[in-house]
Amino acid sequence: MSNRRYPELAGKHALVTGAARGFGRAIAMRLADEGVTVVVNYRRSMSDAAATVEEIEQRGGKAIALRGDVGKEKSLDKLFTQIADELGHLDILVANAAFGVPGSLVEANEHHWQVTMSASAWSLISMTQRALPLMKNGWGRVVSITSDGGQKVIPGYGVVGPAKGALESITRGLAYELARKGVLVNGVLAGLADTKSARSIPGADQVIQHASRHTPKGRIVNGEDIARVVAFLCSDDAEMICGQFITVDGGRNIVG
Ligand SMILES: NC(=O)c1ccc[n+]([C@@H]2O[C@H](COP(=O)([O-])OP(=O)(O)OC[C@H]3O[C@@H](n4cnc5c(N)ncnc54)[C@H](OP(=O)(O)O)[C@@H]3O)[C@@H](O)[C@H]2O)c1
Repeated sequence: MSNRRYPELAGKHALVTGAARGFGRAIAMRLADEGVTVVVNYRRSMSDAAATVEEIEQRGGKAIALRGDVGKEKSLDKLFTQIADELGHLDILVANAAFGVPGSLVEANEHHWQVTMSASAWSLISMTQRALPLMKNGWGRVVSITSDGGQKVIPGYGVVGPAKGALESITRGLAYELARKGVLVNGVLAGLADTKSARSIPGADQVIQHASRHTPKGRIVNGEDIARVVAFLCSDDAEMICGQFITVDGGRNIVG
């Protein structure tokens, strides 16, 4: 395929969580364009996941859609059993899916905390544990997706901010533990993009307009911007990048 940048990725197998839409869909398409066979994971959006697979196949790539809730252990057991049965091995895990209860910390309850931390932070540990036995050739990549909310206050983000902070810490911890096993763990810190999850933040319209005006590159990011950097982090060019987050936000964070 003409738009391959990283020939070493051809023939690899990847799981991209939350790949029916948004960033996950773009990441799945990009990896498939590199010759990676992609598991398009979804939780509820079955028809969107099927459409992602169809588009990948139309472009000459390979993909299968598999259901799985990253916040539920039994669901992950089933998902990884299916991956083992259908693909035999897994080389790349892109922990893109996140689920959280937005709002205010003052009004958050333990249930909000538990579901958000399970799906958006613990899932990285629990999926990596399941992926490792399938990363068979001493080569693996784990990429997580975070936001500004792990380090800064995003009004209305509620318990999602602490979950992203935990996700970032877990990314570094796993990077340390797995570096000598040939499994490279890094992340992308994505700027605001106009996706369904961003639209759930209170006052999303104004937030998006404000971000567009104050982004040095003149526009907010989109899924393809994120997907290209995920592909780079999966490539051999990223070999000595370990436990890092690459910020992809058009320069938004350098402006006060
Ligand atoms: N959009 C932004 O501005 C922005 C900025 C920085 C970082 N991020 C991060 O980027 C990632 C993708 O966000 P997005 O904006 O692309 O979101 P999105 O368009 O709303 O898509 C989220 C995806 O996650 C899936 N998902 C949610 N909970 C899940 C669960 N428990 N198990 C499996 N899949 C689940 C959804 O699947 P179903 O529809 O099938 O349920 C959906 O496909 C997230 O980690 C988000 O925090 C986003």
